[in-house]
Amino acid sequence: MSKAAVILAAGMGTRMKSATPKVLHKVAGQPILGHVIAAARGAGATRIVVVTSPDGQAVRDYAAKEGADAVIQEQQLGTGHAANCAASALKDFTGVVAVTYGDMPLLTSKTFEASYAAQKSAGMAIVAFEAKDPSAYGRVIVDRDGMLDRIVEFKDANEKERAVTLCNAGLLAADSKSFFRWAANLKNDNAQKEYYLTDIPLLARADRVACAVARTDEEEVMGVNSRAELANAEAAMQRRLRNAALAAGVGMTAPETVYFSFDTVLEADVLVEPFVVFAPGVTVRSGAHIKAFSHLEGAQVHKGALIGPYARLRPGAVIEEDVHIGNFVEVKKARLEKGAKANHLSYIGDARVGAGANVGAGTITCNYDGFDKHHTDIGAGAFIGSNTALVAPVKVGDGAITGAGSTITKDVEANALAVERSDQKQLSGWAEKFRAAKKAQKAKRGAK
Ligand code: UD1
Ligand code: MG
Repeated sequence: MSKAAVILAAGMGTRMKSATPKVLHKVAGQPILGHVIAAARGAGATRIVVVTSPDGQAVRDYAAKEGADAVIQEQQLGTGHAANCAASALKDFTGVVAVTYGDMPLLTSKTFEASYAAQKSAGMAIVAFEAKDPSAYGRVIVDRDGMLDRIVEFKDANEKERAVTLCNAGLLAADSKSFFRWAANLKNDNAQKEYYLTDIPLLARADRVACAVARTDEEEVMGVNSRAELANAEAAMQRRLRNAALAAGVGMTAPETVYFSFDTVLEADVLVEPFVVFAPGVTVRSGAHIKAFSHLEGAQVHKGALIGPYARLRPGAVIEEDVHIGNFVEVKKARLEKGAKANHLSYIGDARVGAGANVGAGTITCNYDGFDKHHTDIGAGAFIGSNTALVAPVKVGDGAITGAGSTITKDVEANALAVERSDQKQLSGWAEKFRAAKKAQKAKRGAK
C-alpha cells in the first residue's frame, strides 16, 4: 500500500515573535518541519505535501529542498480545510494518507507507522495520548471496544468531556481518496467556526468506516508555539539523542553537557568528555576521543584520533587515524593524514597535512588574501616550527623542516630546512653593563 503524508504548516506562529516561520526554527540543528518530514519518510511515506500560508515562501523552499511538495492555504479556516488544500497535489495518489501538524519535532517514524498499521486494520486511525495536563487539547472519546466514538475540541466540550485525559495528538490516517471526499464535506458549525480535521471520523462513520485509536507518549506530540516550548523540545530531543548514543556504545561521563545534532554519527567506543558540541554533519569513528569543550561541525574524525580539549573542527575537516588536535587548534577544510599532530594554538585551513607531520604551536596557514582562498600542502613527516606563517598557496615537501617564526612564502623542497628570520646577534657583557648603568641612575635619583 502506498503511503503519503500531509503536513499542516500554515499557522502564523506569532507567539515565536520571530521573522522566521515557526516550522523553520531548529531543533538539534534541523528545522522542526524537517523532523516531521523525516519521521513520515522513515515510516514509508513516498509522497509528502506541506500546507503553507500565502507568505510562507521560505517554508515552500525548504519543503522543495527536502523533496516534499507544497501547497498554499489562502485563508486559515481550520485544520480540516488546511488538509483539504492538499487534495489537488494528491489527486493522482492511491493509498493511505497520514495528516499531521508541522510543529511537532519529536514525532517519530514509529508513531507514523502505528497510525498506518491501525488504519490498515480498522479503515481509519487517529493517534491519542494520555495528557498530564490536558488543557486545550481535543478530547478523545472512545467506545466500549476502544474504537473512536468522537473527538471533541476543548472549546466545544462540556464538563464531562473536559474531564477526559485521553487527548488527540494530531495524526490521522485514512484512505486517501475517501479522506479528501470527506474533507470536502466538512462543516464549520462549531465554537470556532472552523473546519475541523477532527470531524473527519464522524463523516467516515456515516460511510461505515470505523476509526481505531493508536497511542503515543505525550513527549512525542509536544508542539512548539513559543520560544519556551522550542527550548523544551530541544531539551527533550537532546535527552533522546544522548540516550541513543549511550545505547549505541558511546562513552560519556556527563551526557547532560554534550549537545548533538539530528545527524550526528558516533560509533561505539567513541569517548566524549563533558561540554562538547556536535553541530550538524559530524561523523566520529570508533576509538576516537573527544576531549572537553570542543566544537565540531561538518567534520570526520577517524579511529584513534584525539581531539581537544578546546578544539574546533569546522566544515571539511578530515581527521585521519591517530591524529592529535590539541587545545585552541582550529581546522577548516583540511585533511590531516594518519598520525599527524597539531597540538597547540594553530589555524589549519584549506590544507593537507601529510602523515606523521608535526605542526608546531602558533602555526597559521594564511589561506585568505581578502578575495580568494589558497591551499597549503604539508608533506608527510614534515616538521613545521612553532609560529610559522605559511602564506598560501605554498608547499612544504616531505620531511622538510621550517624554522620557528618563519614566514614561508615559497615552496620548500623535501627534506630541506627553510628559515626566514634575520641572523641572531650577540653582544657579550651587554646585559651586565646595562643593569649597572640603570642601577646607578636609580641611586642618583633616590639621593636627590
Ligand atoms: C488541534 C486539534 C486538537 C489537538 C491539537 C493537538 C483540530 C481541530 N484540533 O488543535 O484536537 O488536540 O491540535 O495539538 O484539528 N493549521 C493550518 N491551517 C489552519 C489551521 C491550522 O495549517 O487553518 C495548522 C497549524 O499551523 C498547526 C496545526 O494546523 O500546525 C494545528 O492547528 P492549531 O490551530 O494549533 O490546532 P489546535 O487548536 O491546537
Ligand atoms: Mg495547536
